[in-house]
Amino acid sequence: MTRSLLSIAQLSAPELDALLSRTLELFEAPSSASSALRGLPISLLFYENSTRTRLSFEAAIRALGGSPQSLALSASSVQKGETLSDTALNLIALGTQGLVLRHPVAGTPKLLASLTALHGIPVLNAGDGMHAHPTQALLDAATLMHDWKGPLSGRHVLIIGDIRHSRVARSNLELLPRLGVKVTICGPGPLLPSEVELSSFRGIEKAKFLTQELLRSVDAVMVLRLQLERQAKGFFPSVTEYRHFWGLTRDRAALLKSAALILHPGPTNPGIEIDAEVMTDPRSRILKQVQIGVAARIAALEWAFASGGTA
Ligand code: NCD
Repeated sequence: MTRSLLSIAQLSAPELDALLSRTLELFEAPSSASSALRGLPISLLFYENSTRTRLSFEAAIRALGGSPQSLALSASSVQKGETLSDTALNLIALGTQGLVLRHPVAGTPKLLASLTALHGIPVLNAGDGMHAHPTQALLDAATLMHDWKGPLSGRHVLIIGDIRHSRVARSNLELLPRLGVKVTICGPGPLLPSEVELSSFRGIEKAKFLTQELLRSVDAVMVLRLQLERQAKGFFPSVTEYRHFWGLTRDRAALLKSAALILHPGPTNPGIEIDAEVMTDPRSRILKQVQIGVAARIAALEWAFASGGTA
C-alpha cells in the first residue's frame, strides 16, 4: 500500500513524531535510508518554479534507490493544453510509481491523489497555491529540533511577513502548535490571515509590529519571502516601508537572543524581508534548512511507500 502526503493536518501525532525523528536520524546518518524505492521511477511535476524543493526531492528519491524523472513542463504537452490528470495518467502508463506535485492552485494535489489512488500511486504535495507545503514545515521543525536537541514544546517562534500568501506559513501554523510551540505572527495587517482563518489554527498570537520586547523574547524567527507574484497592489505602501517596519534588519537581529535561530524557507529577497548580513549571521540556519530538507523528503517518501499504510 502507498499513501499520499497532502498536508500536515492529515498526520496523526504518532506519525508526526515518527516523521520528525526519522528526519533527524537520516540527517545524522544518510546511509540509513531504506531501499523503499529501489528501481522505481518517480515523477516530479512542478507547475511552479522551484530550486530547493525539486532538487531535494530528486536527491531523496535517489537516496532510496529510485529514479527521479522531472518533467520539463515548458517542453511537454502541457504547453499544448494537456490537462494535469491526463499528464499524470500518461506518466502512470509509462510506469511511474509516484508523483511529486507542485501546483499554483490550492487543493490540486488532493484532487490528483483521488485519481492516482485508483492505480495505487501516491502524490506528495510539494506546495499547492497558498494552501500547504508539508515537507517544508517538517524540515523547519526538524531544523529547530536538531539545534535544540529535543522537543520544541515551550519554545516561542515568531513568523514574520507575508503569512496570507504563504503555504509555508500555513503548514507551520498547523504543525508548530501541535508540537507545543507558542507561535506569534507579525506583518502588515492585510498580509495576515483573517480572524476566521486563524481560528482554525491553535492559539496563534498576532503582533502588528516588531517591538523590541517581542524580538527579545522569541527563541526563533521564521522570515517569509514577500511573495510579490501573488499580490495585487495595496497590501503595504512600498517595499521600502515594508523593510522599515517588518524587515529582519541587522539592527533588529541584534535584539534577538544570542541563541535565537533565524530561519527562511528561501528564496530570499535580500534587503527586503531580511538583510543579506542577517542571512549569514551565526544564528542563521537558512542553509541548514536546505540540508535537512533532503532528510525530511527521504522520511516523507519512506512514509508514503511504507507497507501497511492506507491510501
Ligand atoms: C517556498 C515555496 O515555494 O512555497 N519555497 C520553498 O519551497 N522553499 C516559499 C516561497 O516561495 O517563498
